[in-house]
Amino acid sequence: MKIAVLPGDGIGPEVAAQAVKILSALHSDALQIELEHAAIGGAGYDAAGDPLPAATLQLARDADAILLGAVGGYQYDKLPRPMRPEQGLLRIRKELNLFANLRPASLYPELADASSLKPEVVSGLDLMIVRELTGDLYFGQPRGIHVNAAGEREGYNTMRYSESEVRRVAHIGFQIAMKRGKKLCSVEKANVLETSELWREVVIETAQEYPEVVLSHMYVDNAAMQLVRNPKQFDVILTGNIFGDILSDEASMLTGSIGMLGSASLDENRKGMYEPIHGSAPDIAGQDIANPLATILSAAMMMRYSFGLDEVADRIENAVKKVIGQGLRTADIYTPGTHKIGCAAMGDAVLAAL
Ligand code: IPM
Ligand code: MG
Repeated sequence: MKIAVLPGDGIGPEVAAQAVKILSALHSDALQIELEHAAIGGAGYDAAGDPLPAATLQLARDADAILLGAVGGYQYDKLPRPMRPEQGLLRIRKELNLFANLRPASLYPELADASSLKPEVVSGLDLMIVRELTGDLYFGQPRGIHVNAAGEREGYNTMRYSESEVRRVAHIGFQIAMKRGKKLCSVEKANVLETSELWREVVIETAQEYPEVVLSHMYVDNAAMQLVRNPKQFDVILTGNIFGDILSDEASMLTGSIGMLGSASLDENRKGMYEPIHGSAPDIAGQDIANPLATILSAAMMMRYSFGLDEVADRIENAVKKVIGQGLRTADIYTPGTHKIGCAAMGDAVLAAL
């Protein structure tokens, strides 16, 4: 397996290094893992004047899977938009056609107190957000800022989905639901948006092929509310790019910390990019206090979804469970009575448990 490692910016390199420890430890005669690093985001801009350097994109194309840390930093915020770190991430998703973004949110029982919601609301939580990742407002044309007829500046973006784009991600959502609780909730805003009206129609059509899955529909505003009111009603949430971006951040906090959640972004052939759902957190970068578990759990998802190695994925996930069970915590999930450790020490603890 050839894995491209793109650490990125901020805490990205620190957390990616911990996942690399785990992947390196898994290397054996039966499981040959080759890791190659390249720059992306601000690091790509610094190294090659481009947030997605050509060499990085080529490496990503050649690799069997990609592990990404995080991108972004204050020093890049004033650059022209195409040069900003986020564009590196959006372009690699688009170039590699990584249209299906899987963002699981499940609660470790020991972390129920770290959630901002009452333990009884979140205990036992286990949901999966399937977010479309290469369409919608993020990529729709036309877009821009121009001076309108009234002589004032006007910004515009286009929410746009073709039926094939909706259908392919809907299939992924239903297939995942089949392997889980067989419930799928499609989230959109069909009471206001035509794009959502089409989304709903195509999801209903696709559902014909999955008669065992119980399909429901929810407007995004209601979904945002239901996620904090009664999140355990959800099994799989299927939604578009912008709504999925927002709802997945919301869902992450149910579990206590955004530092606990990994993600997979897959193409048609299940080639994937794996990254924590958190950002680059420049405010805490370089202090060895970031939580590497989201990135380590992303590596587990890589084993499961791109390589079909469920047993290896289970081993990594069990190692994380064990470390949580031992009471070891990074600052973001620390509660009195547990033991606070740094990012590298957390990586070492998971390695030891593995
Ligand atoms: C995410 C992030 C990205 C997104 C940003 C960094 C471009 O928020 O992966 O959720 O909006 O998709
Ligand atoms: Mg986001």
